[in-house]
Amino acid sequence: MASLADIVQALPKAELHLHIEGSLEPELMMALAERNGVKLPFNSVEEIKAAYEFSNLQEFLDIYYQGMSVLQTTQDFYDLTMAYLGRAHKDNVKHVEIFFDPQGHTERGVEFATAIDGILDGLAEGEKQFGITSHLIMSFLRHLSEEEAFTVLEQSKPWHDRILGVGLDSSELGHPPSKFTRVFAAARALGLKAFAHGGEEGPPEYVWECLDQLQVDRLDHGNRALEDPKLVERLVEENIALTVCPLSNLKLCVVDNLHNHPLKKMLDLGLKATINSDDPSYFGGYVGDNYLLTAEALGLGAAELARCARNAFEASFMDKDRKQQFYRDIEALIT
Ligand code: HPA
Ligand code: ZN
Repeated sequence: MASLADIVQALPKAELHLHIEGSLEPELMMALAERNGVKLPFNSVEEIKAAYEFSNLQEFLDIYYQGMSVLQTTQDFYDLTMAYLGRAHKDNVKHVEIFFDPQGHTERGVEFATAIDGILDGLAEGEKQFGITSHLIMSFLRHLSEEEAFTVLEQSKPWHDRILGVGLDSSELGHPPSKFTRVFAAARALGLKAFAHGGEEGPPEYVWECLDQLQVDRLDHGNRALEDPKLVERLVEENIALTVCPLSNLKLCVVDNLHNHPLKKMLDLGLKATINSDDPSYFGGYVGDNYLLTAEALGLGAAELARCARNAFEASFMDKDRKQQFYRDIEALIT
Protein backbone atom coordinates (compact mmCIF):
# COMPACT_ATOMS: atom_id res chain seq x y z
CA MET A 1 0.00 0.00 0.00
CA ALA A 2 1.23 3.48 -0.83
CA SER A 3 2.33 5.56 2.16
CA LEU A 4 0.59 8.82 3.02
CA ALA A 5 3.70 10.67 1.80
CA ASP A 6 3.49 8.85 -1.56
CA ILE A 7 -0.18 9.78 -1.93
CA VAL A 8 0.50 13.43 -1.06
CA GLN A 9 3.32 13.54 -3.60
CA ALA A 10 1.27 11.85 -6.32
CA LEU A 11 -1.77 14.11 -5.97
CA PRO A 12 -1.86 16.88 -8.55
CA LYS A 13 -2.37 20.13 -6.67
CA ALA A 14 -3.63 23.66 -7.13
CA GLU A 15 -2.43 26.26 -4.64
CA LEU A 16 -4.89 29.11 -4.07
CA HIS A 17 -3.51 30.92 -1.02
CA LEU A 18 0.09 31.95 -1.41
CA HIS A 19 1.61 35.39 -0.86
CA ILE A 20 4.56 35.52 -3.21
CA GLU A 21 6.45 37.81 -0.81
CA GLY A 22 5.95 35.14 1.86
CA SER A 23 7.87 32.62 -0.24
CA LEU A 24 11.08 34.66 0.11
CA GLU A 25 13.54 32.20 1.62
CA PRO A 26 16.24 33.52 3.98
CA GLU A 27 19.00 32.56 1.51
CA LEU A 28 17.43 34.63 -1.29
CA MET A 29 16.71 37.45 1.18
CA MET A 30 20.41 37.64 2.07
CA ALA A 31 21.47 37.44 -1.58
CA LEU A 32 19.10 40.22 -2.65
CA ALA A 33 20.09 42.39 0.33
CA GLU A 34 23.68 42.15 -0.86
CA ARG A 35 22.81 42.67 -4.56
CA ASN A 36 20.78 45.79 -3.74
CA GLY A 37 22.81 47.19 -0.85
CA VAL A 38 19.89 46.85 1.59
CA LYS A 39 20.79 46.70 5.26
CA LEU A 40 19.00 43.92 7.17
CA PRO A 41 18.99 43.59 10.97
CA PHE A 42 20.29 40.02 10.51
CA ASN A 43 23.81 38.78 9.74
CA SER A 44 23.07 35.22 8.72
CA VAL A 45 20.44 32.82 7.47
CA GLU A 46 20.39 31.28 10.98
CA GLU A 47 19.66 34.66 12.57
CA ILE A 48 16.79 35.22 10.14
CA LYS A 49 15.30 31.82 10.87
CA ALA A 50 15.64 32.35 14.61
CA ALA A 51 13.46 35.47 14.31
CA TYR A 52 10.54 33.44 12.92
CA GLU A 53 8.71 32.87 16.20
CA PHE A 54 5.29 34.53 16.25
CA SER A 55 2.51 34.68 18.81
CA ASN A 56 -0.01 36.35 16.50
CA LEU A 57 -0.57 37.68 12.97
CA GLN A 58 0.86 41.16 13.68
CA GLU A 59 4.19 39.83 14.94
CA PHE A 60 4.55 37.95 11.67
CA LEU A 61 3.49 40.91 9.53
CA ASP A 62 6.14 43.19 11.07
CA ILE A 63 8.89 40.76 9.97
CA TYR A 64 7.20 40.01 6.63
CA TYR A 65 7.19 43.71 5.61
CA GLN A 66 10.79 44.09 6.73
CA GLY A 67 11.81 41.00 4.70
CA MET A 68 10.24 42.26 1.49
CA SER A 69 12.37 45.45 1.63
CA VAL A 70 15.12 43.57 -0.25
CA LEU A 71 12.85 43.34 -3.34
CA GLN A 72 13.82 46.30 -5.48
CA THR A 73 14.05 45.45 -9.18
CA THR A 74 11.99 43.57 -11.75
CA GLN A 75 14.71 40.91 -11.70
CA ASP A 76 14.24 40.44 -7.94
CA PHE A 77 10.50 39.82 -8.33
CA TYR A 78 11.20 37.47 -11.23
CA ASP A 79 13.76 35.49 -9.19
CA LEU A 80 11.35 35.30 -6.25
CA THR A 81 8.54 33.97 -8.45
CA MET A 82 10.74 31.41 -10.20
CA ALA A 83 12.08 30.15 -6.86
CA TYR A 84 8.53 29.58 -5.62
CA LEU A 85 7.38 27.84 -8.82
CA GLY A 86 10.43 25.56 -8.83
CA ARG A 87 9.61 24.53 -5.27
CA ALA A 88 5.89 24.12 -6.06
CA HIS A 89 6.75 21.93 -9.05
CA LYS A 90 8.55 19.53 -6.71
CA ASP A 91 5.26 19.17 -4.79
CA ASN A 92 3.40 18.29 -8.00
CA VAL A 93 1.59 21.63 -8.13
CA LYS A 94 -0.10 22.14 -11.50
CA HIS A 95 -1.83 25.48 -11.03
CA VAL A 96 -1.37 28.49 -8.72
CA GLU A 97 -3.39 31.61 -7.94
CA ILE A 98 -0.98 33.79 -6.03
CA PHE A 99 -1.31 37.08 -4.17
CA PHE A 100 1.05 39.98 -4.20
CA ASP A 101 0.97 43.10 -1.99
CA PRO A 102 1.53 46.11 -4.27
CA GLN A 103 1.34 48.57 -1.36
CA GLY A 104 4.11 46.68 0.43
CA HIS A 105 6.28 47.92 -2.44
CA THR A 106 4.84 51.28 -3.55
CA GLU A 107 4.87 52.48 0.10
CA ARG A 108 8.68 52.17 0.08
CA GLY A 109 9.22 53.70 -3.35
CA VAL A 110 9.21 50.63 -5.60
CA GLU A 111 6.84 51.13 -8.51
CA PHE A 112 3.77 49.02 -9.12
CA ALA A 113 5.13 48.18 -12.59
CA THR A 114 8.45 46.93 -11.20
CA ALA A 115 6.73 44.39 -8.96
CA ILE A 116 4.01 43.17 -11.29
CA ASP A 117 6.18 42.93 -14.40
CA GLY A 118 8.73 40.76 -12.59
CA ILE A 119 6.05 38.50 -11.14
CA LEU A 120 4.21 38.14 -14.47
CA ASP A 121 7.48 37.34 -16.31
CA GLY A 122 8.20 34.69 -13.68
CA LEU A 123 4.73 33.18 -14.01
CA ALA A 124 5.08 32.99 -17.80
CA GLU A 125 8.50 31.36 -17.54
CA GLY A 126 7.19 28.97 -14.88
CA GLU A 127 4.49 27.78 -17.25
CA LYS A 128 7.15 27.14 -19.92
CA GLN A 129 9.61 25.36 -17.63
CA PHE A 130 7.27 23.52 -15.27
CA GLY A 131 3.89 23.47 -17.01
CA ILE A 132 2.33 25.32 -14.05
CA THR A 133 -0.59 27.54 -15.09
CA SER A 134 -1.34 30.57 -12.96
CA HIS A 135 -3.37 33.63 -12.08
CA LEU A 136 -2.30 36.73 -10.16
CA ILE A 137 -4.36 38.47 -7.46
CA MET A 138 -3.44 41.90 -6.08
CA SER A 139 -4.24 42.35 -2.42
CA PHE A 140 -5.12 45.56 -0.64
CA LEU A 141 -3.49 46.07 2.75
CA ARG A 142 -6.40 46.40 5.17
CA HIS A 143 -4.45 48.42 7.76
CA LEU A 144 -4.28 51.21 5.16
CA SER A 145 -7.26 53.31 4.04
CA GLU A 146 -9.86 52.54 1.39
CA GLU A 147 -8.71 55.66 -0.43
CA GLU A 148 -5.22 54.17 -0.73
CA ALA A 149 -6.77 50.94 -2.05
CA PHE A 150 -8.52 53.02 -4.73
CA THR A 151 -5.11 54.44 -5.71
CA VAL A 152 -3.74 50.92 -6.26
CA LEU A 153 -6.81 49.93 -8.25
CA GLU A 154 -6.20 52.95 -10.49
CA GLN A 155 -2.46 52.16 -10.85
CA SER A 156 -3.27 48.58 -11.85
CA LYS A 157 -5.54 49.48 -14.79
CA PRO A 158 -2.97 48.83 -17.57
CA TRP A 159 -2.60 45.23 -16.27
CA HIS A 160 -6.26 44.32 -15.74
CA ASP A 161 -6.22 41.71 -18.49
CA ARG A 162 -3.43 39.94 -16.55
CA ILE A 163 -4.92 40.22 -13.04
CA LEU A 164 -7.56 37.74 -11.87
CA GLY A 165 -8.87 39.79 -9.00
CA VAL A 166 -8.37 41.75 -5.83
CA GLY A 167 -7.68 40.39 -2.35
CA LEU A 168 -7.63 41.76 1.19
CA ASP A 169 -4.87 40.91 3.65
CA SER A 170 -2.66 42.23 6.50
CA SER A 171 -3.89 43.08 10.03
CA GLU A 172 -7.43 41.74 10.34
CA LEU A 173 -8.56 42.80 13.84
CA GLY A 174 -9.85 46.39 13.80
CA HIS A 175 -10.00 46.45 9.98
CA PRO A 176 -13.32 44.85 9.00
CA PRO A 177 -14.10 44.03 5.38
CA SER A 178 -16.84 46.71 5.39
CA LYS A 179 -14.04 49.31 5.37
CA PHE A 180 -13.43 48.26 1.72
CA THR A 181 -16.98 47.81 0.38
CA ARG A 182 -16.74 50.59 -2.23
CA VAL A 183 -13.35 49.66 -3.65
CA PHE A 184 -14.38 46.00 -3.95
CA ALA A 185 -17.56 47.08 -5.79
CA ALA A 186 -15.42 49.17 -8.13
CA ALA A 187 -13.06 46.24 -8.74
CA ARG A 188 -15.94 43.87 -9.46
CA ALA A 189 -17.46 46.41 -11.85
CA LEU A 190 -14.15 46.27 -13.76
CA GLY A 191 -14.54 42.49 -14.15
CA LEU A 192 -12.11 41.51 -11.40
CA LYS A 193 -12.86 38.63 -9.01
CA ALA A 194 -13.04 39.25 -5.27
CA PHE A 195 -11.09 37.43 -2.56
CA ALA A 196 -10.55 38.34 1.09
CA HIS A 197 -8.89 37.02 4.22
CA GLY A 198 -11.60 36.52 6.82
CA GLY A 199 -11.96 34.68 10.11
CA GLU A 200 -8.23 34.09 10.56
CA GLU A 201 -8.18 36.17 13.76
CA GLY A 202 -11.35 38.17 13.10
CA PRO A 203 -14.82 37.16 14.33
CA PRO A 204 -17.60 35.51 12.28
CA GLU A 205 -19.12 38.97 11.66
CA TYR A 206 -16.09 39.75 9.45
CA VAL A 207 -16.81 36.64 7.37
CA TRP A 208 -20.45 37.72 6.95
CA GLU A 209 -19.12 41.05 5.68
CA CYS A 210 -16.80 39.26 3.20
CA LEU A 211 -19.91 37.59 1.76
CA ASP A 212 -22.48 40.38 1.99
CA GLN A 213 -20.39 43.49 1.43
CA LEU A 214 -17.37 42.35 -0.59
CA GLN A 215 -19.24 39.53 -2.37
CA VAL A 216 -16.17 37.34 -2.43
CA ASP A 217 -15.73 34.49 -4.90
CA ARG A 218 -13.66 32.59 -2.35
CA LEU A 219 -12.74 33.07 1.32
CA ASP A 220 -9.15 33.00 2.59
CA HIS A 221 -8.76 31.10 5.90
CA GLY A 222 -12.30 31.15 7.35
CA ASN A 223 -11.41 29.28 10.56
CA ARG A 224 -13.63 31.34 12.86
CA ALA A 225 -16.67 30.86 10.60
CA LEU A 226 -17.12 27.56 12.45
CA GLU A 227 -18.26 29.52 15.53
CA ASP A 228 -21.50 30.43 13.73
CA PRO A 229 -23.70 27.55 12.44
CA LYS A 230 -25.80 29.91 10.28
CA LEU A 231 -22.63 31.15 8.61
CA VAL A 232 -21.44 27.60 7.98
CA GLU A 233 -24.82 26.84 6.40
CA ARG A 234 -24.48 29.86 4.12
CA LEU A 235 -20.93 28.93 3.05
CA VAL A 236 -22.03 25.37 2.27
CA GLU A 237 -25.17 26.49 0.42
CA GLU A 238 -23.26 28.95 -1.75
CA ASN A 239 -20.36 26.54 -2.20
CA ILE A 240 -17.84 29.20 -1.14
CA ALA A 241 -14.40 27.60 -1.01
CA LEU A 242 -12.10 28.18 1.96
CA THR A 243 -8.36 28.45 1.35
CA VAL A 244 -7.14 26.89 4.59
CA CYS A 245 -3.49 27.16 5.67
CA PRO A 246 -2.76 24.71 8.51
CA LEU A 247 0.96 25.41 9.13
CA SER A 248 0.27 29.15 9.00
CA ASN A 249 -2.50 28.69 11.58
CA LEU A 250 -0.07 26.82 13.80
CA LYS A 251 2.78 29.36 13.49
CA LEU A 252 0.44 32.32 14.10
CA CYS A 253 -1.27 30.62 17.06
CA VAL A 254 -4.68 30.51 15.36
CA VAL A 255 -4.59 26.87 16.53
CA ASP A 256 -2.52 25.67 19.51
CA ASN A 257 -1.72 22.29 17.98
CA LEU A 258 -2.20 20.71 14.54
CA HIS A 259 -4.23 17.98 16.25
CA ASN A 260 -6.81 20.66 17.01
CA HIS A 261 -6.89 22.07 13.48
CA PRO A 262 -10.48 22.43 12.15
CA LEU A 263 -9.77 21.12 8.62
CA LYS A 264 -11.42 17.75 9.18
CA LYS A 265 -14.40 19.39 10.85
CA MET A 266 -14.73 21.70 7.83
CA LEU A 267 -14.79 18.75 5.44
CA ASP A 268 -17.29 16.88 7.63
CA LEU A 269 -19.57 19.93 7.64
CA GLY A 270 -19.56 19.92 3.84
CA LEU A 271 -17.40 23.02 3.46
CA LYS A 272 -15.26 23.24 0.35
CA ALA A 273 -11.91 23.33 2.14
CA THR A 274 -8.57 23.45 0.34
CA ILE A 275 -5.00 23.13 1.67
CA ASN A 276 -2.43 25.87 1.07
CA SER A 277 0.85 27.23 2.43
CA ASP A 278 0.18 31.02 2.81
CA ASP A 279 3.77 32.19 3.49
CA PRO A 280 5.83 29.00 3.23
CA SER A 281 9.23 30.45 3.96
CA TYR A 282 7.99 31.92 7.26
CA PHE A 283 5.68 29.10 8.36
CA GLY A 284 7.92 26.07 7.92
CA GLY A 285 6.45 24.27 4.96
CA TYR A 286 5.26 24.32 1.35
CA VAL A 287 1.94 22.95 0.20
CA GLY A 288 3.04 19.29 0.24
CA ASP A 289 4.17 19.67 3.87
CA ASN A 290 0.79 21.19 4.70
CA TYR A 291 -1.04 18.19 3.19
CA LEU A 292 1.17 15.62 4.89
CA LEU A 293 1.52 17.11 8.38
CA THR A 294 -2.20 17.90 8.57
CA ALA A 295 -3.13 14.39 7.40
CA GLU A 296 -0.84 12.86 10.02
CA ALA A 297 -2.15 15.10 12.81
CA LEU A 298 -5.84 14.64 11.98
CA GLY A 299 -5.77 11.07 10.70
CA LEU A 300 -6.94 12.03 7.21
CA GLY A 301 -6.90 9.24 4.66
CA ALA A 302 -6.31 9.20 0.91
CA ALA A 303 -9.97 9.94 0.14
CA GLU A 304 -10.00 13.09 2.29
CA LEU A 305 -6.71 14.33 0.84
CA ALA A 306 -8.06 13.69 -2.65
CA ARG A 307 -11.20 15.66 -1.70
CA CYS A 308 -9.03 18.63 -0.70
CA ALA A 309 -7.01 18.43 -3.91
CA ARG A 310 -10.16 18.22 -6.01
CA ASN A 311 -11.75 21.10 -4.09
CA ALA A 312 -8.79 23.30 -5.02
CA PHE A 313 -9.15 22.60 -8.75
CA GLU A 314 -12.91 23.16 -8.51
CA ALA A 315 -12.42 26.43 -6.63
CA SER A 316 -9.75 27.66 -9.05
CA PHE A 317 -10.28 29.80 -12.12
CA MET A 318 -8.33 27.36 -14.27
CA ASP A 319 -9.57 26.60 -17.76
CA LYS A 320 -12.53 24.16 -17.49
CA ASP A 321 -11.14 21.53 -19.88
CA ARG A 322 -7.80 21.48 -18.07
CA LYS A 323 -9.64 20.90 -14.77
CA GLN A 324 -11.19 17.68 -16.12
CA GLN A 325 -7.78 16.12 -16.63
CA PHE A 326 -6.86 16.63 -12.97
CA TYR A 327 -10.22 15.35 -11.71
CA ARG A 328 -9.50 12.12 -13.60
CA ASP A 329 -5.92 11.89 -12.30
CA ILE A 330 -7.08 12.42 -8.69
CA GLU A 331 -9.87 9.85 -9.05
CA ALA A 332 -7.42 7.29 -10.48
CA LEU A 333 -5.23 7.63 -7.38
CA ILE A 334 -7.97 6.55 -4.97
CA THR A 335 -9.66 3.78 -6.97
N1 HPA B 1 -2.83 36.95 6.98
C1 HPA B 1 -3.02 38.23 6.69
N2 HPA B 1 -2.21 38.91 5.90
C2 HPA B 1 -1.16 38.27 5.36
C3 HPA B 1 -0.92 36.94 5.63
C4 HPA B 1 -1.82 36.24 6.49
O1 HPA B 1 -1.67 35.03 6.81
N3 HPA B 1 0.21 36.61 4.95
C5 HPA B 1 0.62 37.71 4.27
N4 HPA B 1 -0.21 38.72 4.53
ZN1 ZN C 1 -2.73 34.77 3.64
